[in-house]
Amino acid sequence: MEYLEKYIQENKQRFLDELFELLRIPSISADPAYSQEMIRTAEYIKNQLLAAGADNVEICETGGYPIVYGEKIIDPSLPTVLVYGHYDVQPAVPLELWSSPPFEPTIRNERIYARGACDDKGQMYMHVKAFEAMMINNSLPCNVKFMIEGEEEVGSSNLGPFCINNKEKLKADVVLISDTSMIANDIPSIDVGLRGLSYVEVEVTGPNRDLHSGVYGGAVANPINILAKMIASMHDENNRITIPGFYDDVVELSTEERNEMAKAPFDLEAYKKDLGINDVWGETGYTTIERTGIRPTLDVNGIWGGYTGEGSKTVLPSKAFAKISMRLVPNQSSEKITKLFADYFTSIAPPSVKVVVKPHHGGEPVVTPTDSIEFRAASMAMEKTFGKKPIPTRGGGSIPIVALFEKVLGVKSVLMGFGLDIDALHSPNESYGIFNYFKGIETIPYFYKYYAELKNKAS
Ligand code: BES
Ligand code: MN
Ligand code: MN
Repeated sequence: MEYLEKYIQENKQRFLDELFELLRIPSISADPAYSQEMIRTAEYIKNQLLAAGADNVEICETGGYPIVYGEKIIDPSLPTVLVYGHYDVQPAVPLELWSSPPFEPTIRNERIYARGACDDKGQMYMHVKAFEAMMINNSLPCNVKFMIEGEEEVGSSNLGPFCINNKEKLKADVVLISDTSMIANDIPSIDVGLRGLSYVEVEVTGPNRDLHSGVYGGAVANPINILAKMIASMHDENNRITIPGFYDDVVELSTEERNEMAKAPFDLEAYKKDLGINDVWGETGYTTIERTGIRPTLDVNGIWGGYTGEGSKTVLPSKAFAKISMRLVPNQSSEKITKLFADYFTSIAPPSVKVVVKPHHGGEPVVTPTDSIEFRAASMAMEKTFGKKPIPTRGGGSIPIVALFEKVLGVKSVLMGFGLDIDALHSPNESYGIFNYFKGIETIPYFYKYYAELKNKAS
């Protein structure tokens, strides 16, 4: 595929400019104040898909933010790749921690700094440019469908129904996703697993109003004190989660599987240094890689209540709140875990408070086989452009819709991501390597090529 390198070289600046334009639109799905920007982003992607040569491009309305769809069917008898990505981003706060404004993409040290640079605008847009390269050079080897959503960062709640209602339109042989990370630029890897998610919000109520902490303190339960204690009690001395039944369905890996996992290079000292921590933390008996890859977790994402303004106010608050997420591994079910959490949380609350558990979104874990045609095609593609066979890894993050693609559309996904841990997803100063952006654009057409060849051989 000689054309490819040349085409990328010749269009380098434009490929960057177009991504920058996309990054300038603050498509924050969590905040309704940005709903107009969400629509603008969808329209921009629609136009870019059209310009790249896609047909039947449309903005599909949902109960929430729209899904951008486009396709190129060159021959119905050929295999079809469904590209999934998301155009929404996480909120950029706290803004003061950014070295350059989150929606003014800036290049420093060969990296693009912007919210969404990697997650997922940069990675998603690589697919649009790879498609353009294949189209212009007449070398698209199979059919393509694009489905780019705007609600991934808030749980993809409208994408499931969209898939159910559009099974025929979305019919494909494989889903191709770039929304995950690799070990390093010289150690390519492919995620073969994603964790599931169970997300809840809790409310603990003490007295019916905020009280004077001197007049009532010591005699009336303080919901913040109680909540802190309840949360603390959810991990035991081995940092295992204490919710009864929490681990019941967890698939334990065999010693062989764990040994295989341990072969992937991992530098614990560099990991600690990068995060500014003196030591790691986690479940006794498991390595850091295992703790994020194959073990479930419980983390508080936010906690609030009482007085947090300037100076001091002596108050015994009426209410305390927390947002809590649990990352799940095969075979745990998010519905079951949410229920176990709610039952346990309610059961450990002392009679001096009332608690409410409000479930948010959830998602199921996935593992993908490494002997499948799609994994082999992705592996060959990365080996071709990186000069090294990628290592299969289990990612700690979640893309809840992946399990649904399998359930609703009956299609497996391949997670060919090009990000790195240093990209600071969801954090201030998110970035994406220029190397990674172009490497992705170069690798994707090889996936199509090998996938079409392997599929053809198999049939
Ligand atoms: N792209 C990430 C998921 C990810 C990142 C997987 C890195 C593997 C490696 C995705 O956009 C994301 O952030 N997902 C959310 C889940 C969602 C329901 C909010 C997550 O993992 O917190
Ligand atoms: Mn993402
Ligand atoms: Mn994300």
